[in-house]
Amino acid sequence: MKKLLVILMCILATTLVSCGWGSSNDGALSNNDEGLIVIGFSQVGAESDWRLANTKSMRETLSEENGYRLILRDAQQKPENQYAAIREFIEMGVDYIVLAPITEEGWDQVLSEARAAGIPVIIVDRMISTEDNSLYTCWVGSNFRKEGEAAVAWIGQTFWDRPTLKIVHLQGSMGSSAQIGRSASLMAAVDSYPGWEIIYSASGDFTQVKGKEIMEYVLKQFDQIDVLYCENDNMAFGAIEAMDAAQRSYGVGGAITVISFDATQAGLEDTLRGKINYNVECNPLHGPRVEAIILQLESGGVPDKLVYVEEAAFDATTITQEIIDQRAY
Ligand code: AHR
Repeated sequence: MKKLLVILMCILATTLVSCGWGSSNDGALSNNDEGLIVIGFSQVGAESDWRLANTKSMRETLSEENGYRLILRDAQQKPENQYAAIREFIEMGVDYIVLAPITEEGWDQVLSEARAAGIPVIIVDRMISTEDNSLYTCWVGSNFRKEGEAAVAWIGQTFWDRPTLKIVHLQGSMGSSAQIGRSASLMAAVDSYPGWEIIYSASGDFTQVKGKEIMEYVLKQFDQIDVLYCENDNMAFGAIEAMDAAQRSYGVGGAITVISFDATQAGLEDTLRGKINYNVECNPLHGPRVEAIILQLESGGVPDKLVYVEEAAFDATTITQEIIDQRAY
């Protein structure tokens, strides 16, 4: 009788495991036949080269060959699309939600729904603003404020002997951590250097098209621009197109010093050619970082709550073709 009971229990256990009920999260989709870990990824959009590299990194790492099913939803830079995607993931019962938030504000409601459903939320790239840290499992991304500090330190050193500086500020998507951090560093520098003045500021939403449009307008308004502070490479590419068309000199040896962020391959090519004077890295290769977090969680570990990625910065004296060629993005 005892033997029979053991056999019956074994059969029951095998059935449960083969149905996937033995996995760490009991979402409906996690019980798929292939035993894949199911991840719902709410991506910002496809606004920049950086973003495309980020999506590629996630897709390549969290692939079916590696044991994952990645369900990616492109929010097209609209927060309401992100809320809808997260609700869809909850409905599906995914094992993990990975969120690259467009803006910092507005997350408490939808993330409390994910928490109620017992789905761990991993935040990547930009951050959210919340009083309740239990709404997410952990975050990995860039220190955008530090990136901005590197840029303003370079401007300060380069123009140490200039009593005044006229600055045009091309901002990223308003309310995103990347914009908030990079803008805050510039504002703080403007407050501490009496001669620095922001003569024009507008958001180009991190896109090349808007960067070009804004710069076309700005070049018609101002004869003197000393520094163009562009909060990403794609807006810098757009601004460069506008400066070329308007035949305004810029870059190394030119009238307008160009600062950019991301340090993508194309951005660093422009740095090597002297079109961009200083380019601060923002690393998009979050796929392996997210995978490491998931593997840690799967084995019962507790990942660090906040992890900042190490980043560098380059000007014409430090960038080389070798560095560009070795870059994965
Ligand atoms: O959040 C990272 C920023 O978003 C990158 O600097 C920018 O290129 C992207 O669109």
